[in-house]
Amino acid sequence: MAIKYNEQDKLFTLLTQNTSYQIKIGPYNTLLHLYYGKKVDHNLDYLIQTMDRSHCGNPNEAEKDRTFSMDTQLQEYSTFGMGDFRISCLDVINKDGSCAADLRYKSYKIMDGKYQLEKLPSVYETERITMQTLIITCIDIVTNLEVELYYGVVEEYDVITRAAKISNLGKDKIELLKAFSTCLEFPNSHFDLIHFYGKHSLEREFDRTPVGHAKLSVESMRGLSSHQHNPFVILADRSATETNGECYGFSFLYSGNFQAQVEVDQIGQTRFAMGIHPAFFRYEVKPGEIFTTPEVAMSYSSEGLQKLSHNFHKLIRNNLCRGKYKDTRRPILINNWEATYFNFNTEKLVLIAKEAAELGIEMLVMDDGWFGKRDDDFSSLGDWVVNTNKLGTTIKELADRVNAVGCKLGMWFEPEMVNEDSDLYRKHPDWCLHIPNRPMTRCRYQIVLDLTREEVRAYIYNSIAAILNSANVEYIKWDFNRSIAEVWSGMKDENHQGQVFHDYILGLYEILERLNNDYPQVLIEGCSSGGGRFDAGMLYYEPQIWCSDNTDAFDRLKIQYGTSFGYPISAVGSHVSAVPNHQTGRTTPFHTRGVVAMAGTFGYELDVNKLLTNEKEEIREQVELYKRNYELINSGDYYRLTSPYENTDFTSWQTVSTDKTQSLLSVVYHQSHGNSNFYKVLLRGLDENALYQINGEDKKYSGAALMYAGFVLPNPWGDYQAYQYEIKLSK
Ligand code: GLA
Repeated sequence: MAIKYNEQDKLFTLLTQNTSYQIKIGPYNTLLHLYYGKKVDHNLDYLIQTMDRSHCGNPNEAEKDRTFSMDTQLQEYSTFGMGDFRISCLDVINKDGSCAADLRYKSYKIMDGKYQLEKLPSVYETERITMQTLIITCIDIVTNLEVELYYGVVEEYDVITRAAKISNLGKDKIELLKAFSTCLEFPNSHFDLIHFYGKHSLEREFDRTPVGHAKLSVESMRGLSSHQHNPFVILADRSATETNGECYGFSFLYSGNFQAQVEVDQIGQTRFAMGIHPAFFRYEVKPGEIFTTPEVAMSYSSEGLQKLSHNFHKLIRNNLCRGKYKDTRRPILINNWEATYFNFNTEKLVLIAKEAAELGIEMLVMDDGWFGKRDDDFSSLGDWVVNTNKLGTTIKELADRVNAVGCKLGMWFEPEMVNEDSDLYRKHPDWCLHIPNRPMTRCRYQIVLDLTREEVRAYIYNSIAAILNSANVEYIKWDFNRSIAEVWSGMKDENHQGQVFHDYILGLYEILERLNNDYPQVLIEGCSSGGGRFDAGMLYYEPQIWCSDNTDAFDRLKIQYGTSFGYPISAVGSHVSAVPNHQTGRTTPFHTRGVVAMAGTFGYELDVNKLLTNEKEEIREQVELYKRNYELINSGDYYRLTSPYENTDFTSWQTVSTDKTQSLLSVVYHQSHGNSNFYKVLLRGLDENALYQINGEDKKYSGAALMYAGFVLPNPWGDYQAYQYEIKLSK
């Protein structure tokens, strides 16, 4: 049993393989948090402490007892307005204008299986990975606002998911000003917040900052999860490292505005909370209606960050991603964006596909520029009909020709956008998000469609479906190239504009869900000017996301390092591109670009016809090596052996098969130096007692030798040299 309720002690215990989580129905039916951490199957309510503290109020029922205060107790779901002044999860406005919600325990339910959330992404159970659900219902007896707290327990991965359903059982409307998904409290304050910040072309940079009494917030208000901050964060013990120490990870399954807040309170306790960003969020819940928060997946590791990442990698890969390509090997693709930009036609594409197929590449992705009158980025978004002037063919003819030379065909769309210079905008100027009588902020000269409108969602779905029905298109790159500025929908009155941001995301998910259901054989890759919407919410609909527009192998070391903390390799879109690199002007060896791109979904983004013979030969070898190691790379355990922030000489990583018989080690040197040091790297995850051979050579190494004494690396000659080692159990 992963979930237990002890009636006598009024105690809920959630157990996973290595962790436990405990909740207590406390005095006055308050819902108190007792513990989350290393497995302890024991009543921990002795941890509750009370004290008469000045300026910390007491529940009304406490009468003259001044020792119990909601301002100092650890809680499961904090609310504003009843004497707790720390970060709240729930802020409401009641009909009388008052701003209070006082949640008390009402009932509970334990169920086999994992709850699902209507219209929102959610971790799901499979035959192999079973789950359990706990629902604790709390109620504010004055307004009859009911909150169901959902807990999903994934024993195998040490994961607990959380979400809340907020129901108005009263007679009057209630407005939500903040409706977070999770709250997690700690009796101490020795944490660092690890988060991943960035910008276009340099996403998910690693940052570790001590948590103190000033409130910290990681957030996006851009209408998408954003390049600037990622909705995956970690609270790590100050002493935690890759391989040691306690850490807690939180992944928000949501692609819009978010906030993760953390603070140390006046008595040294830490409160963490996460959910939809409350700024410009105002959601009316009418009598009888329910508001469902998105899900947060949490995990705890007592063995450092590496184990924490493994938990999230497995969860996302096996129990969040869906569709045919969750388990089937994904095609190695070549994308024409950096090869041609807008300057292409059918002949050019077929030539690329033909040469690519001969080298072992399996899919051609036709990027931006195939539709409307699109020859630059000033027009035609929204007009998803083929630009026959440019292509000279229909999509069907193109697909047939690309298929005939041995490649599948994929296509780029940016479905949520419109250009003012487009037939769609001319016909439906009101279909975009805009504020009447206020000039629109353009970004890349485009504006955002109002996905809260049903007819807009239908138009988007029908446009894409028409293409998919007309030709053998097996992949979609779903792009989103701006932040949302003027958030206002013509479909809502002045009292409901605070719902637009969230309803937009629900609209997006609805279209993606429909496409997933109707075209399960189509692989969808997410993109948002690279990795601007790289989040676990999107991964429910698209098993891979273009990690960054920056394809420079050296910059990618940091980008992919940061991304790896919360997301599996199978999610990371990564390509070999031409040099000098189009984003940085840097020239790195072809081999190095291949090694780096293989820490992802692997593909190419260049004109294969312009390559030298030896480079084409390298492609053949890379493709073979990647195919040979596909299972290992995508489903093995991923180890960050060195950090590009700490080791300035080289960055290295390793994947190890679950049975420890196979591993792939990758090393990329940053720069070469005269009279260089001797270099070695300590491997991980191998079987200490087993013997291994490397790159087919006769010499044998024990797992213990490779892990504790290390593997000797060559001295690089020239900058950015890379090495790859296929490690196999000796026969
Ligand atoms: C975005 C994407 C790129 C490319 C262009 C096309 O920037 O991130 O990969 O598709 O759009 O306009």
